[in-house]
Amino acid sequence: MLDKHVAPLSEIERLHSELADRAALADEDAWAMPAEYYTSEAFLQVEINDVLRRDWMCIGHIGELRTPGDFFTTELFGEQLLTVRDTDGVIRVLSNVCRHRGNRVAEGSGNAKKFICQYHTWTYDTAGALKVAPHMKKRRVFDQSKCGLPEFASEVWMGWLFVNLEGNAISLASRVGGLEVVIENYHQDQRHLVHMEEDVWDCNWKALFENFMEGYHLSATHLNTLHPITPTKLCQKMVSGEGWTGYHACYDPDYPPREPFHPDLTEFERNNSPMYGVYPNLMVGMGTDFTLFMIIRPDGADKVRIRWGVTGQDDTPESETTQNYVSLCRSFNIEDKEKLEILQQALQTRTYQGGPLAPDDFEGTIWDFIQYMARKMGHVQSPGKIP
Ligand code: FES
Repeated sequence: MLDKHVAPLSEIERLHSELADRAALADEDAWAMPAEYYTSEAFLQVEINDVLRRDWMCIGHIGELRTPGDFFTTELFGEQLLTVRDTDGVIRVLSNVCRHRGNRVAEGSGNAKKFICQYHTWTYDTAGALKVAPHMKKRRVFDQSKCGLPEFASEVWMGWLFVNLEGNAISLASRVGGLEVVIENYHQDQRHLVHMEEDVWDCNWKALFENFMEGYHLSATHLNTLHPITPTKLCQKMVSGEGWTGYHACYDPDYPPREPFHPDLTEFERNNSPMYGVYPNLMVGMGTDFTLFMIIRPDGADKVRIRWGVTGQDDTPESETTQNYVSLCRSFNIEDKEKLEILQQALQTRTYQGGPLAPDDFEGTIWDFIQYMARKMGHVQSPGKIP
């Protein structure tokens, strides 16, 4: 549990003040955040309580739950989650804590017709209703109908599955309407999950979000992987919204067309990958052919857990084309990981100073993300800032 990290209030107050001051700057004066923003365990706890538990956290993709009974388990900020497609086909995010005395009712992932707690065999159906509780009917205080597994608020958007732990966030869909207009012709919701794997990087979660979402580093960090496809100089920032930020990673004219194209794609859309981040923890690079996505969550201030995957137009995980794309993703992920872990070490030095951010097309998405964090922590935005 991260709650054990209790630090002097002054550190939290200082970072609140820094965030409010940065967010109030004009766009053209955008400036990176100080080291403690990425290293403070105390501030991470504030982020968890004020941002991550209150907002929609992406936890997976519906391609992981294809048939009734498919499930996977997750720990998220101390909550034990059991995500399952029930027998009616409905995806539910249930508490994975037995209503008897708290054992986990499921482990890992798989397919199940029912969940049997291995402590005393209370048994739940795939919708979380308690069906069997040995010897309990003899107890006057036992009401089987009131002993189902609690369900968390969840939404599916474009195939990704989100949970809101606090249960009172406004609809995710209502916060990404502007993004849907930009990406609709790519038909992400029709793409198939063809790859998923997990990783842990030694860097702050926000640093990874910022790295994924900015195109400034593409030509330098990814000279032989992404630069030939999406060079930095061709990046075009989108007009972001309340729940998202993004840019167009435009293709080098010399790079072969990334076919097959969906017939709805316009000429411009055939020649760029929308890169977007749905706050606070889903990042997507949506190519004309494949989509790369990363789902992240902090595990301490200097460690981030990653679930990254690929969706494709065809359900062909073993095809050479799919494998080549996954291999490319692995290659540039390694390049990003190396840079971010060096950056995390630099944050501990006395000489680190966050510098000015590059112009909007290159690092404006970082500025958007800082503004989002400031909004979530109650720091007022200038009127008209949020479309
Ligand atoms: Fe689950 Fe007792 S804790 S049946």
